[in-house]
Amino acid sequence: MVRELDAVERIGVVGAGTMGSGIAQVAATSGYDVVMRDVEEAFVESGFESIENSLGRLVDRGSIDEEEADAVVDRIEGTTDLAALSDCDLVVEAVVEDMDVKQDVFADLDGAVDRDVLLGTNTSTLSVTTIASATDHPDRVVGLHFMNPVPVMEGVEVVVGEKSSDGAVELAHAFAEDLGKETWEADDKPGFVTNRILMPWINEGIRAFDEGVATKADIDRGMKLGTNVPMGPLELADHVGLDVCLHASETLHEELGDRYKPAYLLKRKVDAGDLGKKTGTGFYEYD
Ligand code: CAA
Repeated sequence: MVRELDAVERIGVVGAGTMGSGIAQVAATSGYDVVMRDVEEAFVESGFESIENSLGRLVDRGSIDEEEADAVVDRIEGTTDLAALSDCDLVVEAVVEDMDVKQDVFADLDGAVDRDVLLGTNTSTLSVTTIASATDHPDRVVGLHFMNPVPVMEGVEVVVGEKSSDGAVELAHAFAEDLGKETWEADDKPGFVTNRILMPWINEGIRAFDEGVATKADIDRGMKLGTNVPMGPLELADHVGLDVCLHASETLHEELGDRYKPAYLLKRKVDAGDLGKKTGTGFYEYD
């Protein structure tokens, strides 16, 4: 059994990176008190910086006023202590995409919060069932897969693990909807809906560039103008992070076979440390 949405007031977010800080921001914007935890003070501070930047953009475009932006930040408590999550009513994990690390976090969370607290994982490709197996109560674990940038993207993918209870799945949808998002549901199969389809698209864009089908700009323009998506595959790879794309592609390749093989050039760029926007160089250059 997990709590009903009416009893959810305080949200725990584990991981203050791009996704974790985005989740903390949207939860606080919807009026929840949030505890955002990372392993080092510097990561927590950097999470707050991202939140302040993002809120600044929302103030600039008139979506919220400065007072509201300050109130959002005030509702978020930063910490490095996992025990600070003990009075949370729902926890979302958004740490690095590494099964061992995620399982350690879930094993710790299982002991740190009450039995009826939903534990959501923001994993993009790893198995929710395997993550949940690190706990004594896998029925309360579900995938809550937010999209990047979290404050802007309208959708959240709810992933149903082998042992996820109906109540946990229902609460995951209700919570995401309460954050102003729309949801869809996927079974716990590699990559779920989004990354199972998105990663081959990105890899094919990279291969098309590597094989000289068109310039990178024309590949992105072609897909944007030709299919009405906001970013072409190379731009989107840079936005998501090439390391994230490679890791997701490798997981899909391992689980689903050769049709998911990552593009050679993707691997070469990650090896060279060119990870996209975040390092200033990916398929494009950034200030
Ligand atoms: N916080 C707040 N506002 C933001 C923001 C952020 N982090 N990022 C962008 N915005 C706002 C901008 O301020 C801007 O507002 P105005 O229109 O009022 O000026 C608006 O969003 C549009 O931004 P930009 O003008 O900078 O650029 P854009 O029009 O290209 O939009 C984008 C940027 C929203 C990222 C858009 O390009 C887009 O939707 N791209 C696709 C993103 C996508 O597919 N994400 C999913 C990736 S897959 C994933 O996340 C899953 C996974 O597991 C890997």
